Amino acid sequence: MSALTVREPQLALEPRLLSRTSCAAPLPALSRAREREHLLAEIEASGLTGRGGGGFPTATKLRAVALGRSPIVVANGTEGEPASSKDKVLIAANPHLVIDGAVTAARLVGATDVVIAAGRADGRGIAALEHAVAERRGFDQGIALGVVAAPDRFVAGEEKALVNWLNGGQAKPTVDRPFERGVRGRPTLVQNVETLANLALIARHGADWFRELGTPQEPGSALVTVRGAVRAPGVAEIELGTTLRDVLAGFGGLTAIPQAFLLGGYFGTWVSARDALDLPFTNESLRPLGASLGARLVIALPQDACGLAETARVVRYLGRESAGQCGSCYFGLPAIATAFEMLAGGTADAPQALERLSRLVPQVEGRGACSLPTGATRLVTSALRVFAHEVDGHRAGRCCAPRRPAVLPVPDLHEHEWS
Ligand SMILES: Cc1cc2nc3c(=O)[nH]c(=O)nc-3n(C[C@H](O)[C@H](O)[C@H](O)COP(=O)(O)O)c2cc1C
Ligand code: SF4
Repeated sequence: MSALTVREPQLALEPRLLSRTSCAAPLPALSRAREREHLLAEIEASGLTGRGGGGFPTATKLRAVALGRSPIVVANGTEGEPASSKDKVLIAANPHLVIDGAVTAARLVGATDVVIAAGRADGRGIAALEHAVAERRGFDQGIALGVVAAPDRFVAGEEKALVNWLNGGQAKPTVDRPFERGVRGRPTLVQNVETLANLALIARHGADWFRELGTPQEPGSALVTVRGAVRAPGVAEIELGTTLRDVLAGFGGLTAIPQAFLLGGYFGTWVSARDALDLPFTNESLRPLGASLGARLVIALPQDACGLAETARVVRYLGRESAGQCGSCYFGLPAIATAFEMLAGGTADAPQALERLSRLVPQVEGRGACSLPTGATRLVTSALRVFAHEVDGHRAGRCCAPRRPAVLPVPDLHEHEWS
């Protein structure tokens, strides 16, 4: 899936992550334990949380991995989410900032190896990273730097899957917890590339500077991918806490009032446009709608598109992306996809589809070795809620947009491998 272009947001924000001058100031040496503890305390005080979707406090992860022997740092830039481009744009625009963050994390946890993973299809990102690593002659402060091109599967960016693939296996989740037993059996810190870029900025400018943007609970800026019914789809850096309406203004504004937004990604949640438009873009304010920032993806669904048909295609895709290791996922997701297609397609079986979905969803939700099944059921449940008014029409065999081109991109699955 090609990366979207970078947008200059029309928001009063001096870009931090996408600014080419963000690597100008020197990084702290971190050669003494006291300096490392000081920076860990700064990261804690900054409130930095993971930008890879889970939102886990970064300082807590750093401290846990620092306890292990000879750890490894993995920068996760695989971005298997088909509609998202924020990590690809960051890597291409500012590879040195990502590497600075990875090297700083390595210094903090006592690692001597850094592996930076990008998606195999992201040729531009891989070239940018390889060029940046070559400029550092493959090393930085005694830390060996490597770039790898990971399989382009939705699940491949899940940290246990990524570690398994780096160990020579398939890019499928295992039961091992990377921070205990990761790459080459060593404790492994897997951190999203945007998280690491923020970490490098905090190392340079401190926690107070980081907190100049965002809200007290969710400080900083964030890279967002916006697509659908906006004039200038793409990726931009926004201040956390900006209202969704203002975020969209940074993308040229809406082309029309959308019927709904998909927030967070294909693991995400459909919310009605009316409910979400004036909410601050934070996890806290989206929580009452059952939504979260997730992968920071916003898709504005045009009025003439069909939310049920769009969801059906994505759920089928997620079902095909199952790593086939957990029964509830391997059998459950395709069954849910079939029931949802019956509903969206308005086939003769459509009246039974709702009943089938209400039986299948609880059997799949919360199961499996990774959150693919839970993410897929969240999408399904939110679609049934937000597009409830469409369900009756579809049950009677009438789709509202039978010939409209798809809004949500779904990759051709046969192109990609697991290893
Ligand atoms: C199915 C699935 C796919 C994921 N894909 C990605 C991904 O493409 N990039 C990423 O950074 N994290 C991804 N994650 C989250 C990672 O498992 C991990 O939490 C993250 O890389 C940790 O970094 P962070 O704490 O900096 O966010 C995925 C998780 C799941 C369950
Ligand atoms: S839940 Fe699905 S995708 Fe995740 S490990 Fe199990 S089979 Fe694989």
